Amino acid sequence: MAALVPSPLPRHVAIIMDGNGRWAQRRGLSRIEGHKRGKESVRAVVEASRRLGIDYLSLFAFSTQNWDRPRREVEALMGLLRRFLRSELRDMLKNGIRLRAIGDIKRLPAALQHELQETCAATQHNHDMTVVLAVSYGGREEIVNAARALAQAVRDGRVQPDTIDERMFGSYLDTAGIPDPDLLIRTSGELRLSNFFLWQSAYTELYVTNTLWPDFREAEFLEALAHYRERDRRFGRVTAQVERERLRAAR
Ligand code: FPP
Repeated sequence: MAALVPSPLPRHVAIIMDGNGRWAQRRGLSRIEGHKRGKESVRAVVEASRRLGIDYLSLFAFSTQNWDRPRREVEALMGLLRRFLRSELRDMLKNGIRLRAIGDIKRLPAALQHELQETCAATQHNHDMTVVLAVSYGGREEIVNAARALAQAVRDGRVQPDTIDERMFGSYLDTAGIPDPDLLIRTSGELRLSNFFLWQSAYTELYVTNTLWPDFREAEFLEALAHYRERDRRFGRVTAQVERERLRAAR
């Protein structure tokens, strides 16, 4: 049954930005050109999110598995990320955007690590929107790291095993303090999570478009949001319960 009242805008949107390579190959360009063009889509989506009042935007920029790509492509991506941080800092500060980085940051080249830390620190007091950049990130790795840290806490006597619940486990993840994504967008048509936000996406609405990331701009983003607002999110309950709560909240 369709929802009577449309869902509000998502508070947290996560994006798997896929298809840069295919976009470039179809035009006879190098894959790196596709990533460069993809950077413009990042800009467009960040701007639209800020304007719409979305609180959190998470971008899967580089996965743990992406380290296995050809060295030249990895280096180009690292360079692009670094230039992006440099060129966007002023805009982030002006627009009240906070940057948070998640993933195995220590694996990144020193100069990029430095740039990331500086940008995160410079924007940490901004509260209008948070951009979460997942770099050298893998969902399974994140869960294993959390389990390891919790095991250590138990061994040190700081945590009792029977007090471990979902909330506590979540606080050991890279995304501690960030609400779970309401909407996860994947571009370029593949129907998989590719190791992104495995824990966090338990009740996330999924939206997959065939549009390749470099072509995903504001219009495509608005379309994804419109689809989301038609979804009937029940979190395991029945529609009538959810509708009652939504009406109560709207009063
Ligand atoms: C996937 O496309 C995309 C990536 C691995 C990198 C994403 C990077 C950007 C969008 C550019 C810079 C990002 C920021 C945040 C400034 P793919 O190469 O896997 O495409 P394919 O599946 O068509 O080969």
